[in-house]
Amino acid sequence: MCGIVGYIGNNAVAEELINGLKNLEYRGYDSAGVALNDNKNIDIFKAKGKLCNLCDVLNLHQKDLQNSTGGIGHIRWATHGSPTVENAHPHCSADGKLVLVHNGIIENYKELREELVKEGFAFVSQTDTETAVHLIDRTYRQTHSLEEAVLNAVKRLKGAFAFCIMHKDEPDKIIAVRKNAPLIVGLGDNENFIASDIPAVIGKVKKIIYLDDAEMAIVSKNKVEIKNFNGQLLDKKAELISFSAETISKRGYKHFMLKEICEQPDIIRNILAQRMSDVNNQIQLPQVNWNEILKKSKVEIIACGTSLHAAMVAKYFMEDLLGIPVHVEAASEYIYRKTVTDENTLTIGISQSGETADTITAVKQAQDKNAHILILTNRPDSSIVRYADSLIPLEAGIEVSVAATKSYTAQLISLYLLTLAWAERKESLTVRLQKLKQELLEIPAKLEEILSNENCIKKCSELFQKYKSFIYIARGINLPTAMEGALKLKEISYINASGYAAGELKHGPIALLDENMPVLAVLIPGTPTYDKILSNCEEAKARQAHLIAVTSSHDEHLNTIFDEIIQIPFSDEVFSPVLANVPLQLLAYHIADNLGREVDQPRNLAKSVTVE
Ligand code: G6P
Repeated sequence: MCGIVGYIGNNAVAEELINGLKNLEYRGYDSAGVALNDNKNIDIFKAKGKLCNLCDVLNLHQKDLQNSTGGIGHIRWATHGSPTVENAHPHCSADGKLVLVHNGIIENYKELREELVKEGFAFVSQTDTETAVHLIDRTYRQTHSLEEAVLNAVKRLKGAFAFCIMHKDEPDKIIAVRKNAPLIVGLGDNENFIASDIPAVIGKVKKIIYLDDAEMAIVSKNKVEIKNFNGQLLDKKAELISFSAETISKRGYKHFMLKEICEQPDIIRNILAQRMSDVNNQIQLPQVNWNEILKKSKVEIIACGTSLHAAMVAKYFMEDLLGIPVHVEAASEYIYRKTVTDENTLTIGISQSGETADTITAVKQAQDKNAHILILTNRPDSSIVRYADSLIPLEAGIEVSVAATKSYTAQLISLYLLTLAWAERKESLTVRLQKLKQELLEIPAKLEEILSNENCIKKCSELFQKYKSFIYIARGINLPTAMEGALKLKEISYINASGYAAGELKHGPIALLDENMPVLAVLIPGTPTYDKILSNCEEAKARQAHLIAVTSSHDEHLNTIFDEIIQIPFSDEVFSPVLANVPLQLLAYHIADNLGREVDQPRNLAKSVTVE
């Protein structure tokens, strides 16, 4: 939610900031802005909407930008105050000397604002951020030290913040601070960078320093000092960036989402190669503490959005294979009720970004109740990892498109590996486990087979893109597949879609059915509910609904019910959610693309939601 960058060095500052912001656009795109310091003045440029609008504004001022030596930039996902130019960052003090960009939420901003207004500070925006500017400015006027003013102000702020701050009278530095919002410093030669996330500095620097909570970086062209909030100098180690520029390029695909969908077979192949060389060897999850986990009698899984759907799938196979109760809950619900979490609980937090505020808070609460915390995240460098007693990195590579695809598949595979590894450590290897391990290894090839069928799914998208609303149905382990498929369609095409348990259709949603309400059903043959879902589809057809099947069945009879049949390879029901989901990703993608939607940056969404 919101992305911030800072640059100090000899290159064209505006260009460096824009390049950085481009790679953070997944964090928000309601407005963008930069502040440029040329050692005499600080100039602020802002625009409503996407980054390209800011680029237009900067182009108009090309000649004014030549001499800048440092700057800070921001892209916004609006929380406090609508997405206007006034509310866009950077915000500045009344004299225009102090500028600041912010990611996070200052929770006590109302009381601070009242206090500052009483003292005569004039506010020009509705943002919580502006209180921080005036607070720092108030002390600066007395101390004339930006460092001191920042340290003084952060002690008064509650909530989450990552700031980049510049002052006209101290043009040789940018100060960056962090509390509950991610921030890194990228170390270059005669230049240094600050950013909310690594993609902003990939290809620019090889080494970064991760700021921890309650830390401040004083960043100059040739020097970076890290201090704690008491002003004591810290000795922080720089780490090498492991991602290449390739990971954040579209590599010829029209959208990141399509590229990320197509990467799935290779990603899963890599994960499996790392964790399970062959069916006879034990699955290896090196950062999982089995001594603790094997003692646990219950599991709870907490997540949001797409990650929550992965958790819902896991409940089915964990209870089936491990015989222990698994509770799944949206993190935003979990944190506001009395849970029965205790020292016998394994709490699994799943988060692609590792920065989702609700999930982090929930995991923290579970830790306070002495649960063992296992984190599944695509970003082992993220904030959630500090609560992990055990860790499974998802290894999906950087996911740029806002709609999660490859990370979902990697989450499912990691949850299968966890469950199978747990089962094989609990008892001697049974025939079923052996068979499941064998099938797991076959998944990448099956995903390739599905992707080779993309044209058929594209054709289906052309036939169905005209509808305003969809119902997705499934049962059992694929109910979350229906929900995830519907979510994907909603997110990127803005078409209303709901995922229902097929058996519940008759208890309400059936009232919606007519020729304008298509029904997509996920049907896995050989399961106890296959015939039941088929009957539900017949009922929908009797009410003139148009029907799509996603199935591994080759039953001829299906042709009499369904308008379109999307074939997936056969698998044990346990693994069918991985296979059935990919055609739903492609269907959502092609419908959204046909409708001309901004597939990678759907309106109102952000990839990582760092506010509650
Ligand atoms: C946002 C994204 C979703 C994502 C959810 C959870 O809402 O738009 O795509 O599933 O956050 O994100 P996480 O990083 O915790 O998995």
